[in-house]
Amino acid sequence: MKHSRILILAVLAAVVSCQGRKTTTVGSTPETEQRIERLLSRMTLAEKIGQMNQLSGGGDVANYAEAIRNGQVGSILNEVDPQKVNEFQRISVEESRLGIPLLIARDVIHGFHTVFPIPLGLAATFDPDLVEQGARMAALEATAQGVRWTFSPMLDIARDPRWGRIAEGSGEDTYLDARMAEAMVYGYQGRQPDTTSMAACIKHFVGYGAAEGGRDYNSTFLTERQLRNVYLPPFQAAVEAGAMTLMTSFNDNDGVPSTGNTFVVKDILRGEWGFDGLVVTDWNSMGEMIVHGFGTDRKDVARKALEAGVDMDMMTYGFLSHLEELVKTGAVKEAAIDDAVRNILRVKFVLGLFEHPYVDAGKAAAVQYAPDHLAAAQRSAEESAILLKNDGVLPLKADAVRSILVTGPMADAPHDQLGTWAFDGEKSHTVTPLKALQERFPGKVTYVPGLRYSREKRDSFQDVVAAARRADVVLVFLGEEAILSGEAHALADLNMKGSQSELLAALKAAGKPVVATVMAGRPLTIERDLPNCNAMLYAFHPGTMGGPALTNLLFGDVNPSGKTPITFLRTVGQAPLYYSHNMTGRPYNGETLLDDIGMEAGQTSLGNTSYYLDYGAYPLFPFGYGLSYTQFAYSGITLDKAVYGPEDEIRVSLTLANTGDCDGTEVVQVYIRDLVGSITRPVKELKAFQRVTLKAGESRNLTLTVPVSDLAFYGLDGVKKVESGDFQLWVAGDSASGDPVSFQVE
Ligand code: BGC
Repeated sequence: MKHSRILILAVLAAVVSCQGRKTTTVGSTPETEQRIERLLSRMTLAEKIGQMNQLSGGGDVANYAEAIRNGQVGSILNEVDPQKVNEFQRISVEESRLGIPLLIARDVIHGFHTVFPIPLGLAATFDPDLVEQGARMAALEATAQGVRWTFSPMLDIARDPRWGRIAEGSGEDTYLDARMAEAMVYGYQGRQPDTTSMAACIKHFVGYGAAEGGRDYNSTFLTERQLRNVYLPPFQAAVEAGAMTLMTSFNDNDGVPSTGNTFVVKDILRGEWGFDGLVVTDWNSMGEMIVHGFGTDRKDVARKALEAGVDMDMMTYGFLSHLEELVKTGAVKEAAIDDAVRNILRVKFVLGLFEHPYVDAGKAAAVQYAPDHLAAAQRSAEESAILLKNDGVLPLKADAVRSILVTGPMADAPHDQLGTWAFDGEKSHTVTPLKALQERFPGKVTYVPGLRYSREKRDSFQDVVAAARRADVVLVFLGEEAILSGEAHALADLNMKGSQSELLAALKAAGKPVVATVMAGRPLTIERDLPNCNAMLYAFHPGTMGGPALTNLLFGDVNPSGKTPITFLRTVGQAPLYYSHNMTGRPYNGETLLDDIGMEAGQTSLGNTSYYLDYGAYPLFPFGYGLSYTQFAYSGITLDKAVYGPEDEIRVSLTLANTGDCDGTEVVQVYIRDLVGSITRPVKELKAFQRVTLKAGESRNLTLTVPVSDLAFYGLDGVKKVESGDFQLWVAGDSASGDPVSFQVE
């Protein structure tokens, strides 16, 4: 009773008025809702259940023809050949009884043919506009081949770099993740639906990134409050941005697998947020509830998934095989199936699939790798690279260079620089650093790979060292191949694999300037490598245009502006370590480290605070960190008020000056801390950011705003609200810098 009232209220709240017409969270009109009802009323139970079934394509069309013709398929994933897509659609539209088009789905995660940096790299840009533009281009390319649904964006907050899927998300921070979520939803779907709209699928709902030990698919134990304060907000932001679909995750949280989790799907997503889009399972995650020990057999888990609020089954065949029987025995109500089908049809109608089921296969190729797509991919790679160290060697001077040694396993790894989930990016179109450097400096580049792949072990690097001695500068490209991150690719050791660290040390010993560029799917533990290079640029797998982007950065045509979207650890044993942790009762205060303890220390107290005896309490690089070839100075940070009301907007003013001698872009970040709460609060939380480009010597007055309502959280009573009291606010270029200003909320 209580739930249904909440549901009705939430749906009403979610309904927005658009030029006098009502729309739902996914943007359907009253006319569309009528079309859905008319179609639904003509459907047999079997046809309804057919809509709830998603199959994997990729094979011979004939294999699926009969099932499609019989109305047993609502969606196909993994078919990107436009001719085959058209043939699937033709069978569905012309040969099935009701002619309902199929939803063709694909994991278009960071670009389609033109591959952009992996999502973790996109987050490092702190540039939602650029990210939206990239997602739009991915949609243009994918929809041209008939793909109208992507399983992206992944919104899993990830605070453990052992987890391979950290590559696929926006990192550790709730606020940054939410901004990236909105950008990608707008980009994929377009601000107005048309034939180039590709439905976004926000995933994995929910908590998947908190896998214990960073081991993929592992259990999570997130409390409701953590879910609501940290893990759910990006999903809610994406729903509010109009995300059409959502995917349940593989993990069980506190014992409940997501695909059968009524609380998160039915109560929160549907009830509180009023989501009326399509909920799909992850691949066989319905069936895996049996393996979890959460259901006896496929029939049992099919019922549980439906009851939880799932509409479509990806590859378990649970709905297809058992729902009819479950309805006939009264275990499941047909009304629940009707609701699921409404959600599926709604997306198909909003996408315009009934009007435009086919693509112009002849035109599809022309859209791929369009020059503006390549340019945006390059710019994204440029903005995403993070300068972690520079003793002044960078930027290199192009006209002074006579000989460059290019080395390392990632220098010419066209497939691997694309990163995880780049099914459709072709290595023949990928520009590696080696290729870009050879093109730019003909005759000046010597290439000695040193290591053919990241895991190779070698005892001696005589050939590379000899070449280094002959060169003016050494550009070494290290990191990890695509295969080392992504789904099911967790690592327990985050040091650079193989003999990469030894290669770097050998190069350093050769005595020439060494610039290391790391391309990876996660923040590796690079502390031991930093002393062995004069500069280090960190590029999360940068995609198709990684080579030209990195070349431009190394030679100063573009000034680095990327910032870490995730804390960089000194050693894997520190995981999880993230900037917005709660305040402990015994915060670290610079106490003794192991190396400083004398031989006879015995059991003496070392201060009794929260840190590791061997590694202290701090990371290698904090969240939000990244250098530039210029310097920025923050001054005059003032708030417009000392005391704010709950409806106010905090306006923070400052002067940002570029005090160096080249133009550059700074990501200005605003953090707050709620000093006393009904529950302990994070020591800092990002609440706003802005990319600001300044000419050398220029300074600018800036004002950033934070609505006081953004300080709300779920406190002790489980209600989201702003708690009055004392706060601090920082404006700085990373999460560990700056001095706080104080304010109050009454
Ligand atoms: C992944 C999803 C993906 C799906 C379809 C699963 O293994 O967890 O993220 O969208 O496969 O390819």
